[in-house]
Parts: sequence; C-alpha cells; structure tokens
Amino acid sequence: MTRPGTAPERTRAIRRMFSAIAPTYDLLNRLLSFGVDRSWRRQLVAQLPETPLRVLDLACGTGDVSLAAARARPGARVFGADFAMPMLRGAVPKIARAGLDGRVLLQNASAEDLPYRDGAFDAVTIAFGIRNVVRRDRALAEMLRVLCPGGTALILDFSIPPNPVVARLYGLYFSRVLPFLGGVVSGDFDAYRYLPRSVEGFPSRAAFARSMEEVGFGEVSYRDLTLGVATLYRGVRPHGQAPGITPGA
Ligand SMILES: C[S@@+](CC[C@H](N)C(=O)[O-])C[C@H]1O[C@@H](n2cnc3c(N)ncnc32)[C@H](O)[C@@H]1O
Repeated sequence: MTRPGTAPERTRAIRRMFSAIAPTYDLLNRLLSFGVDRSWRRQLVAQLPETPLRVLDLACGTGDVSLAAARARPGARVFGADFAMPMLRGAVPKIARAGLDGRVLLQNASAEDLPYRDGAFDAVTIAFGIRNVVRRDRALAEMLRVLCPGGTALILDFSIPPNPVVARLYGLYFSRVLPFLGGVVSGDFDAYRYLPRSVEGFPSRAAFARSMEEVGFGEVSYRDLTLGVATLYRGVRPHGQAPGITPGA
C-alpha cells in the first residue's frame, strides 16, 4: 500500500485496505497466527472489569473481541465500531450464529471521532486497531472521553519481542513468510506487506504507555503476551476528570 501524505488520504487508504481484505480476514488471522490470536483476545477480555455494563469494542473488525466480551460478561452490552463496512458485514453472521444479536450492536464509525456521549462506557477495548489509526492521539482522547470515570481501556497490539533471537525469527516470519501467505490467500500483497511495516512504525511499549498518560489516562500499565509478540495495555479514566475532554487536533 502506498502511504500518501495527508492524514485524511492515509486514513482513506487504510479503510480501503481493510475493506479489500475483509472476506479472508478471519481465515488469515487463524492461519498466520497459528490460532494464537484467539488466546490473545481471550486474555484481553479476561481483563475486563467484572461488571462492565457497556463495553465499546473499537476497530472491532469482524467482531471477534466484541463476541468474546459478550460471552465473558453475560450482563454486558457490547458496541462494536469500525470504519470499514465490509469488516462489519463479516461480523453480522457471527453475531447471529452466537445468538448475541441483542447484546452486540455494530456501528460504522471512526475511532478518531466517536458518535457516543461523554462517559457512555464502562470499558473500551481495541485489538490490533490502534496501530492502524492515523491520528492515534486523537483516538486515545476519544477513548478517554467516552469512558465513565473509573472506566477501563484495554489496548492489544503487536510488539517487537524484547529477546533479540526471538525478534530476529519473528522479523523473518513477519517480513517474509506472512506477506507471501497473506498475499496469496487474500490476493492483496500490499496489505500484508503493510502489516510488518506498521508494527515497526509503532512506538515502543514505554512510549505508547506515555502517550496514554499524556492524553489523561491513569494507572497505565502493560504486559507482554507470547514472548512479547503482542502487548496488552491498560489505562483507567481517573475520577474527578472534567467531562468533555476535547480530542487533540
Ligand atoms: C487488524 S483489524 C482488527 C480487527 C479486530 N479488532 C480483531 O481483533 O480482529 C484492524 C481494524 O481496525 C479498523 N480501523 C483502522 N483504523 C480505524 C479507524 N480510524 N476507525 C475505525 N476503525 C479503524 C479496520 O477497519 C480494521 O477492521
């Protein structure tokens, strides 16, 4: 995928890319992660508070985290939001098959400009999404805004493993094997070449945690999963924070 200059152009290119790979997205996830992606999402939803009544799953894609959250927290209503309609369309039959139509609701929305009121959610999740958001700080500020005071944000994304040997093997797999297999199955070689580049371009764990603190999250922490191939970040909207936080430009 080319990376045209302005933020709106880059956002449009990313939306086009996810829309194009939507039909083979689930199959490739299972294949390319050897099924480990499911365990990562389970670990994410295990961190949800016990009584989240309203959960927002941002960049929900084909709904795997939304479904896992609804299953793990039977009292919860889960709102799945994504800006790529073909990804959301992939979620619809999965939600119906799980009998969760009433509890998992989908919305076509951008993470940078959420159509929800301040403090609307007890928890916000985003799995393998924040890395792709062009104005990342703006999305973080929006996550904070729609969380109620004391509400939890859980952010899961790829990382570069800290062990140099593991990092080298992972780098080879990620930059050679994965783009080839992803390209063959999806027919979109550019999209799967973009994946390793986007992971390389993502800030370090400490820098990303700092950017969460900078927009106003409290109690920010993170932990690595599977030798540091993925990292799960957590932050809380502090009590007493003024409502109506304005996202950065
Ligand atoms: C790698 S997929 C992850 C999907 C899902 N969360 C999962 O765990 O499988 C990334 C998703 O982020 C969405 N996305 C990227 N940037 C976005 C934005 N600015 N607003 C909303 N969705 C976005 C894409 O459309 C895509 O569905």
